[in-house]
Amino acid sequence: VVTLLLISITSTWSEDDSVGMRRYERHKIFSVTADTSEKLKFLEQLQAHPFPDGSLVDFWSLPGLDKETDIMVAPTNEQAFKELMDENGISFEVKVDDVQTLIEDGSKGNIRARSRQGTEARRMGWGYYARYSEIEHFLTGLVSTDEITVSVETIGTSYEGRNIRAVKLSTSPKNTKSVLIDANIHAREWITSATATWIINELLTETPYYNEMLKGIDWYIVPLLNPDGYEYSHTDDRLWRKTRSDNPGSKCKGTDPNRNFPFHFGSRSSDKNPCSPVYQGSAALSQNEAQAISNLMKRLLSEGSLLCYISFHAYGQYWLYPWGYQTGLRTDDYEEQASLGKKVVAAIKDVHGTVYTTGTAADALYPVGGCSDDYAKSIGVKYTVTIEMRDRGTSAFILPPSEIVPNAEEVLAALKVVAARVRNDP
Ligand code: ARG
Ligand code: ZN
Repeated sequence: VVTLLLISITSTWSEDDSVGMRRYERHKIFSVTADTSEKLKFLEQLQAHPFPDGSLVDFWSLPGLDKETDIMVAPTNEQAFKELMDENGISFEVKVDDVQTLIEDGSKGNIRARSRQGTEARRMGWGYYARYSEIEHFLTGLVSTDEITVSVETIGTSYEGRNIRAVKLSTSPKNTKSVLIDANIHAREWITSATATWIINELLTETPYYNEMLKGIDWYIVPLLNPDGYEYSHTDDRLWRKTRSDNPGSKCKGTDPNRNFPFHFGSRSSDKNPCSPVYQGSAALSQNEAQAISNLMKRLLSEGSLLCYISFHAYGQYWLYPWGYQTGLRTDDYEEQASLGKKVVAAIKDVHGTVYTTGTAADALYPVGGCSDDYAKSIGVKYTVTIEMRDRGTSAFILPPSEIVPNAEEVLAALKVVAARVRNDP
């Protein structure tokens, strides 16, 4: 029934050749909730295999039992979508009426802040979302301070040839512990790279406040892991998620880099269809971006120092620990993962009152195979985390630039808790 219905729907979602940004007029966000496992199964099917051309619906958050899921639906598909929901007894409501308005309202603050900067000698700021070139400028211009030695290395090159940079902040060459962070593996999650660069700047310019966190630990931060997708989300499609690599034999581009890691590759919430937003890729580590971070993980592990890996995502406000590929699983060190999660969530709340949820990625969110977090755990990183930052779906991916700093402050509070834990780990 499902397949027949889906095929009868015409889609406005196929790749658009017209110039300028893709527009999302009258695209709605539906909030749907599955209250039985059959309904959940149906949503899971729809999420992993949205439509032969990849486009009936785009799940902005992943479905779970008795959990609200945000789904974007194109106007031409709205009627059919509602019928599908009705047919399956799934209740829904409209959360956002017009995604285009959401995007335009979101970029207003962005543009104002940017034009104030002027064209020349533009310095990095956090009142707007910076482009790749500005982030490059910021990263390559970083200089060591009396306390912190900064090194910037290129850990890989994106499909379109952009640099993937890793910043190392170290207060002592004797450090034997490290934490690795990546951001913006998913293109549209702009808040994550803004947060990463803000944190780098904050640590370098306000060092005395962070002595405790910096002591004994090298911090490796990759602020923009998917630069091609990020630029594309600025120039062509604000809601682009994947990389921008070609898929031979398909008109659709890109692989979901967070489905591309060699651990339970292709198992859940993944699609073999290149047009899907969760396309897993032709093989594990087929993407330069996934390779780059995987190689860095392995190198830091071989140096014996990597105790924690955190992947920055948005949105939903979650602190997720392993396992993420299957529900109902516990790692041997579950108690430690869970107690760290509890502490982090409390520390985040203390900053601005923002409420996070913590749990295993699969239980608190949804099972996914081929993710970087589980992969890191599988190769021996003690603490592996996916953090889903602000908000809970009001602005979703279009988080206003005014929230960059408050969000980053919360995340930095979380990192302090992580540092305390990592330091005490033998
Ligand atoms: N939003 C992330 C994604 O869909 C969540 C991944 C969480 N990790 C996991 N192994 N389930 O890629
Ligand atoms: Zn993400």
